[in-house]
Amino acid sequence: MVALLARHSEQVGVDLPNRMPEAAPYVTEEAKIFPPPYEEYWKTQNNPGQCQTCHSKIFDEWNGSQMANAWRDPVWRGAYLLMVRLTSTNGNCDLPSPPDGTEKAVRNPFAKPGECASTFDIGNEHVTLSRPGSVLDAFCSRCHMPTNYLDNHHPKDIVKDADGNETARPDPNFNPTGDNGTGIAFATVDEQFRNTETGKTGIFCAICHTMGATRDTPFHNYERSDNDKNYTPALGTASRNELLPADKADMMNPADPTKTNLGYSIGAGAYRLSPHAIVFPERFGPLAAQDLNAEDKNTSSVFGESIPFQHMDASKHKGYQSAMFVRSEVRYFLLLVVTIVSNDVCAAEPTAAKFLRGINLHGPALIIDGNQWEGGDTPNLRCNGNAFDNQSVTLKPGTDPERARMIRSSRWGREIDVDVLNIPAVPGLEQGNYADEMHVNASGVPIYTRYLVSKLKR
Ligand code: HEC
Ligand code: HEC
Ligand code: HEC
Repeated sequence: MVALLARHSEQVGVDLPNRMPEAAPYVTEEAKIFPPPYEEYWKTQNNPGQCQTCHSKIFDEWNGSQMANAWRDPVWRGAYLLMVRLTSTNGNCDLPSPPDGTEKAVRNPFAKPGECASTFDIGNEHVTLSRPGSVLDAFCSRCHMPTNYLDNHHPKDIVKDADGNETARPDPNFNPTGDNGTGIAFATVDEQFRNTETGKTGIFCAICHTMGATRDTPFHNYERSDNDKNYTPALGTASRNELLPADKADMMNPADPTKTNLGYSIGAGAYRLSPHAIVFPERFGPLAAQDLNAEDKNTSSVFGESIPFQHMDASKHKGYQSAMFVRSEVRYFLLLVVTIVSNDVCAAEPTAAKFLRGINLHGPALIIDGNQWEGGDTPNLRCNGNAFDNQSVTLKPGTDPERARMIRSSRWGREIDVDVLNIPAVPGLEQGNYADEMHVNASGVPIYTRYLVSKLKR
């Protein structure tokens, strides 16, 4: 009888017992020296407003991005709140009662009727949880409110299992969508690091630029190889380059260059921020702390010419190269589509574009908009690929005959090389201290902008 009772008496918990191991979102060894919370640092020295002073152009691009504005967007809050209500750990108790006194609708399929509790079937047993919040509290917030997500992971809750997998459970009181008794969801609770100003700022500069390593998550879609090969924790209070040898301070090699994901775990918030970089503060990016004066083989292969490693001017703050940034892996850790790339560091604004040369790739010389275009047979062009021409096509919208002549013919192919030769000296590009930019516009709408990090001479 006693045994039977024990089997049926229910344990009411705060979290599912069978979660897959998920490591802390920060470098655990460094957190022993600089433990969370980091809110104070996010608010001050790591605040995007600080970066704006010098990196104004990058700031403007970030400031307009979806990730910088998601928290403010009622659509985002609505989507997050709905997910949370559907997976609430509090039955239907977090739903407000209709003002006309009628019954509440039932939203949460896991709700225990009449109780502020939810029962989840985890395969071999049913688990009942009862607390305000949801089993997804730590899911949407990892990418959309990373500072608060970090500060709700306490070092005391980090454990390693027998296989060495790290598990860091988020604080069950995190509850980012909670109303805190105000009747309005997403209430700010500073003591809980819930919806603080920095949390609402989403992914900002110092989040990406303090990302040292990656971590396994239950949701990431690429396997991590031995990541520590690339990131060496800085264990001390001095700067990273005082604590580590130069080749460890800069992180120039991907964890496993033979893997398509370069050995990093990618997607679904698979990042570990560096407590050392947050607190010191220091930034990781494409520029190296050491003056290597050697060819950067990866970047050179991308641009098809020899480009040296870029040495960081550390007069304003420290910075270290991380292969993740150079190879742009960072975007995939967060699924980020915002491409914030510039070397416009306190540099002059670029001047307006000037027509330099136009080439009608597969057709005769022409005059378009008063500018002389060269024909496809010009000695200034080397171009392979297939040739296409059909001058009977009707263009919509129509345009002047010369431009139409150019548009109706083309060069195409799976892989084609276009070399524009004998480019005259252009003041500015020669001087070398300006942002080297490339823009591709379609019907006047920018579709691609690339700022080269290099100070190239061409
Ligand atoms: C792995 C990181 C990641 C996770 C986890 C994540 N998002 Fe997003 N989310 C993004 C990114 C990146 C964008 C911006 C996409 C863009 O710029 O086009 C975005 C955009 C959005 C948008 C549109 C932006 C807006 O302001 O309307 C909504 C809504 C949204 N996410 C809701 C959610 C919800 C709800 C969850 C949890 C169920 C979630 N996201 C989890 C990365 C994430
Ligand atoms: C007082 C001016 C100033 C401020 C403020 C500033 N930076 Fe910088 N930053 C610089 C300069 C100068 C460089 C070096 C540029 C170079 O060498 O071409 C730099 C370089 C960087 C790099 C490249 C690092 C590398 O190793 O690749 C990153 C990333 C960066 N800053 C991020 C930030 C962030 C994030 C903030 C705000 C929290 C910030 N900066 C605030 C002036 C500043
Ligand atoms: C989503 C992650 C992310 C965010 C947010 C972000 N960056 Fe970056 N940043 C990158 C990546 C990736 C690169 C490297 C791009 C490359 O080399 O192609 C980079 C490059 C840089 C560089 C070096 C570029 C150079 O040419 O010197 C600076 C400086 C920088 N970012 C500053 C900032 C500032 C300031 C902000 C906030 C306004 C910011 N970043 C926000 C990911 C991010």
